[in-house]
Amino acid sequence: MIPSVLPTYNRAPLEFVKGEGAWLIAADGRRFLDLGSGIAVNALGHAHPALVDALTAQAQNLWHVSNLYHIPQQQALADKLVEYTFADTVFFTNSGTEACELAVKMARKYFYDKDQPERVEIITFDGSFHGRSSAGIAAAGSEKMTKGFGPLLPGFVHLAFGDLDGVTNAISETTAAIMIEPVQGEGGIRVVPDAELKALRQICDENGLLLILDEVQCGVGRTGKLFAHEWAGVAPDIMMVAKGIGGGFPLGAVLATEEAASGMTAGTHGSTYGGNPLGCAVGCAVMDHVADPDFLAEVNRKAGLLRQKLEGLSADHPEIFEEVRGSGLMLGLKCKAANIDVVNAGYDNALITVPAADNVIRLLPPLTLTDEDIAEAVNRLDKTAAQIESA
Ligand SMILES: Cc1ncc(COP(=O)(O)O)c(C=O)c1O
Repeated sequence: MIPSVLPTYNRAPLEFVKGEGAWLIAADGRRFLDLGSGIAVNALGHAHPALVDALTAQAQNLWHVSNLYHIPQQQALADKLVEYTFADTVFFTNSGTEACELAVKMARKYFYDKDQPERVEIITFDGSFHGRSSAGIAAAGSEKMTKGFGPLLPGFVHLAFGDLDGVTNAISETTAAIMIEPVQGEGGIRVVPDAELKALRQICDENGLLLILDEVQCGVGRTGKLFAHEWAGVAPDIMMVAKGIGGGFPLGAVLATEEAASGMTAGTHGSTYGGNPLGCAVGCAVMDHVADPDFLAEVNRKAGLLRQKLEGLSADHPEIFEEVRGSGLMLGLKCKAANIDVVNAGYDNALITVPAADNVIRLLPPLTLTDEDIAEAVNRLDKTAAQIESA
């Protein structure tokens, strides 16, 4: 008989009842060190007092009003995002997938309104992940995600990761945009080199295309800048954001320049819940912390410390680990052992990591983790590796 919850997930036999900072407490009382943050969501850790206060204060007053009316919390969060980023305007969603939907619609509408309706194609890269909607799976294009769900949304051109020549060759009079994650998450923590991101920006400028960055996983302080593309010194035309921006409350956003957003006039897009008072009150509190240069400096310091210790760990366990990669606190350990065995052995040592493609385990800890948490994380990873070695 089918379970009452649709069985689309392979769930670990773990159940958590409470979270405190970088720690998750299981139903049986065990304390797990959380290096997953709900897949890069709990940017300020679990139960951060500022987020609890923001949510509960808002909950006392008003949970939901329609976007038929002005929503001050939404306005405040949009103003902050515009102040701190390249963007001139923001649309709020509930998830990264919905941000992908709008990014695709916005790019196509832009060219439609510029009397270039033939420009509908979006170039994407293998290993990418843009969500599970029809547009999201068509954008990523992998067989794993698309098989059985046809007919797929047309208009995506898939290239090999890092294939800049392929990009130039793929551009035609039907190309609208290039969509890329500055750091691939699901694809195995693959960082797009700064020079490549710069080159993509240049290619877009030379060909009149829009650059869409998917910062759903790598954004909101995760790499040590507010948004990952800042490392390369380039800005997108459209950016997808979600996960960390809500710190655990479902919230996403599409940020855009005035030019790129010019087709999105009244009535062209909408969402019942997107930008609701609860989500935006929390989002404002997240931004007040993460956009602070001192906070980001701390993320960078801790990222350096963790990475250095991980390099040592990898060298100590050459049968288990092959390489450390990533940016800031978005780190990957490429494994020689099967990554899922490392994740599962981690559970035995009360440690949460997240598997990714390319036989990688992802470390996406809360950005607020302490130096003691880092020492404990490496200690538990060391025990985990030793456990597999002796098996
Ligand atoms: C880069 C990227 N884009 C889009 C998504 C989809 O976001 P959501 O699961 O919030 O719909 C994800 C989720 O993992 C992601 O990592």
